[in-house]
Amino acid sequence: MIVDADLRVPGDKSLTHRMLLFAAMAAGTSRLGGALTSFDARSTARILRQLGAKVSPLVAGRDITIQGRARFQRPTKQLHCGNSGTAARLLLGILSAHEFASTLTGDSSLRRRPMRRVTDPLAQMGARFTFEGQDGLPVTVEGGALEGIRYTLPVSSAQLKSALLLAGVAGGVPVEVREPGGRSRDHTERMLRAFGYEIEDDGDWIRFAPTGRIEPVSQEVPGDPSSAAFLIGATMLAESGRLRLRGVGVNPTRTGFLRVLARMGAPVAVENHHEVGGEPVADLIVGPAELTSTEVAAAEIPGLIDEIPLLSVLASRADGTTVFREVGELRVKESNRLALLASNLRAVGAQAEAHGNTLTVVGGRAMPAGRVVTAGDHRIAMAFAVLGTLPGAKVRVDDPACAGVSYPGFDESLRALAAGRRRRA
Ligand code: S3P
Repeated sequence: MIVDADLRVPGDKSLTHRMLLFAAMAAGTSRLGGALTSFDARSTARILRQLGAKVSPLVAGRDITIQGRARFQRPTKQLHCGNSGTAARLLLGILSAHEFASTLTGDSSLRRRPMRRVTDPLAQMGARFTFEGQDGLPVTVEGGALEGIRYTLPVSSAQLKSALLLAGVAGGVPVEVREPGGRSRDHTERMLRAFGYEIEDDGDWIRFAPTGRIEPVSQEVPGDPSSAAFLIGATMLAESGRLRLRGVGVNPTRTGFLRVLARMGAPVAVENHHEVGGEPVADLIVGPAELTSTEVAAAEIPGLIDEIPLLSVLASRADGTTVFREVGELRVKESNRLALLASNLRAVGAQAEAHGNTLTVVGGRAMPAGRVVTAGDHRIAMAFAVLGTLPGAKVRVDDPACAGVSYPGFDESLRALAAGRRRRA
């Protein structure tokens, strides 16, 4: 493939969820431009409507308006989070501070994901939870008056950290959290600051004090670096050319993959730095690269957790053996990504192994061919679609449509990379 493209990727998924939630808790009308309109974003919007917020339809290219309310209303039906772990966990935090019972559920992938890691500390704050099974959705939350908490998370997780901070916001109580390993994405902390809350970070503890008030906002959502990563990866595998992606979020807690790619001999140029709503944004420029292997350390993992599928397919084309340390969290993502990455890489003829919490990928030159099982996991689907762009590759992805969980129009964007096609996603 010869790349010649100047594109935008859809709005950031993490930021879209958070902005919808914040706007729904603000008494007044907010406007979001460039927000993500994927299946996951729609799940959050649908639930917020059930809770009494007025959220306009999520249509690509159109602003979303949200008429929020200081307190949510009791929903009449179950709250269905679809495939979205972020929706489920962040909402559990907010609902913990509401004096009614509501039940959250999700699709079969989400129902197998752990929720007790969120509900345990929320129960310490005073909320009550009833599980149908051992762990996971469906779960009924009965909220009420909360107490503050000082808590060390069992894993570095932005969803877990955000659930507690949002419980603090909705309940008007202080929250102190710290993460055990590397720092996970800090979007919630930045958004709280942008909304005028006091939030302190001494590099260990994050301290939130309920001193602010959520006011309606008018805000643009930057492009999602996790979506950008797939187009960047496809360009790196191309024969020649150049890709510019405009307006991509470059929050350092999200761009660990850029640092790893630079180590792999594939630097991405970052230009036109600016800020949008407290988040750093820039253009990313990239071309094809000769990839070399690397070792990705445990402390780096939280900053690139969603990019491991893409990095591991690139590693299968690199010179040498790439090792990802302490990636056990991949087992509880939208699929068991640790097992699926290894088995799918082998299914297309590469050498890969998951041993304990380590993923090892051996680079090679053979053309990938074989059938990829996605288990409905959007990032597995997109990572292997990228591998399938190699000339002569015969990669069949069993469910390419699941990319719509985070990246509506992914196929079109991938096709738009090819020479002479300049369009905006
Ligand atoms: C997210 C946090 C990450 C990430 C997910 C989105 C968020 O999970 O994998 O896609 O928006 O907070 P963790 O909770 O493991 O950090």
